[in-house]
Amino acid sequence: MNFDRMRDRDLRKEAKKRGLRRYSYLNKAQLIQYLMTGDHPIPPNHVLIPDGRSEPAILSENKFQVIPSDSDLILPSDTSPGNFSVKQILHGDCLSFLPSMPDSVFDCCIADPPFNMSQKKGLGWAFSSHVTMQEGWDIFSKDEYVQFTLDWVTEILRVVKRNGNIFVFGSFHSIFTLGFIMQNIFDRRIITQIVWYKPNAQPNITCRMFTESTEFILWAVNNESKKAKKWTFNYHTMKSMNNNKQMRNMWEIPLTKPTERKHGKHPSQKPLQIVERLVLAGTNEGDFILDPFSGTGTTGVAAEKHNRKWVMIEKEESYNQIAQKRLDELSEQ
Ligand SMILES: C[S@@+](CC[C@H](N)C(=O)[O-])C[C@H]1O[C@@H](n2cnc3c(N)ncnc32)[C@H](O)[C@@H]1O
Repeated sequence: MNFDRMRDRDLRKEAKKRGLRRYSYLNKAQLIQYLMTGDHPIPPNHVLIPDGRSEPAILSENKFQVIPSDSDLILPSDTSPGNFSVKQILHGDCLSFLPSMPDSVFDCCIADPPFNMSQKKGLGWAFSSHVTMQEGWDIFSKDEYVQFTLDWVTEILRVVKRNGNIFVFGSFHSIFTLGFIMQNIFDRRIITQIVWYKPNAQPNITCRMFTESTEFILWAVNNESKKAKKWTFNYHTMKSMNNNKQMRNMWEIPLTKPTERKHGKHPSQKPLQIVERLVLAGTNEGDFILDPFSGTGTTGVAAEKHNRKWVMIEKEESYNQIAQKRLDELSEQ
């Protein structure tokens, strides 16, 4: 085969046929290198940097490990292609589970990743000794966070179908990194950002800035920006949920209700109303949704309520137990 004369698309097909993974962001020269040598142009533990070269990953090798599950409640089963069942919570690191999943299986991904806003000593209140946000899973160096985001986004782009919707939560701490990666590194189509306005946001604890009362949801479509087409948007459903007026991208929704937190606390559980709205806007009945950072399982609950299939991944067992209780409660209704 004369690889130099082949079209980019055919090179990709050929590389995929020969078992190449992590290829969606490789350029033509890198694909040819793989086809000629059989070696992945980006060696393990390396990361692609924006000019197309790769460099050693900044993460230490043992930073992300699968935490083996010893719970009967949570059923991580074989996720290898052909043996991939729906409606399950996978207990462990999404960076370990995702690579074993087949390409293009999910219609949609709803991700609420760590925002990297916690601090080792927590955030202190100006007028009390209360300390908040000390979650170990939410602490990264800047470089680690970029690396982590690149790693999970790479896998999400592979397992979500072409033109499938990808909704990612973020705050100002994280959303620009995510947007840069989606838009500039992977050239994915960004449809919009949804602004979640929290009318009952907690007061500012430092008294040195405005009260933080918004989060964002980046809505991207899994295709190159100029090629993205026919993504799911249930316009009329959204309109009918908004007194028959077009739904805006600014959603005023209070913080998660205590009734949704009765099975246990999580520092960043999302209101069910928001995730239900995403599910109803961006998927159809029977669609298959992935949540790689499930926390208390809000995505699974929203998906169940609206007859969608789902798989969620979460590395903290205690959160999985809350999720399981929420799902059990729903099935008993
Ligand atoms: C922002 S919270 C998600 C909250 C969720 N949306 C909810 O409504 O409960 C992020 C979650 O990701 C989990 N997590 C962090 N890193 C992870 C990883 N590498 N793999 C799987 N889960 C991870 C954390 O334990 C945390 O529960």
